[in-house]
Amino acid sequence: MAVFEWEPRYSVHIEEFDAHHQKLLALLRKLHQSMLDGQGKQIVGTILVELKSYTQYHFEAEEEKMQLHGYPKFEEHKKQHEALIDQLDELINEYKADKRQITTDTYRFLNNWLTNHIMSADKQYTAFFKDKDM
Ligand SMILES: [Fe+2]
Repeated sequence: MAVFEWEPRYSVHIEEFDAHHQKLLALLRKLHQSMLDGQGKQIVGTILVELKSYTQYHFEAEEEKMQLHGYPKFEEHKKQHEALIDQLDELINEYKADKRQITTDTYRFLNNWLTNHIMSADKQYTAFFKDKDM
């Protein structure tokens, strides 16, 4: 099982967003650790909500910069963000309603989603933002 470590190859060459991505992976590690430690539902639920809030904060920061500079792929990028937030909402609701467990599949999904999104969609804005005065 991957340990959700940030790697230099994930860099989007914008310090602020690299820091956000590192924090998101740290929250995944925290979630994973809470499960390994056998933490109760309330603590795990709180971490899930924290993960979702920080994800929203990060997505809004990216979207704001995209809009500010007229990023051409803004709409399709935003759709990817919205899809994950919907999935996190569903995950949290089902977890709270005892309809779903947090398993290795959950971590694998979140870790894969994040790293795939960084490596494809996010890396596409690197070149675009490089020439902008930030
Ligand atoms: Fe993104």
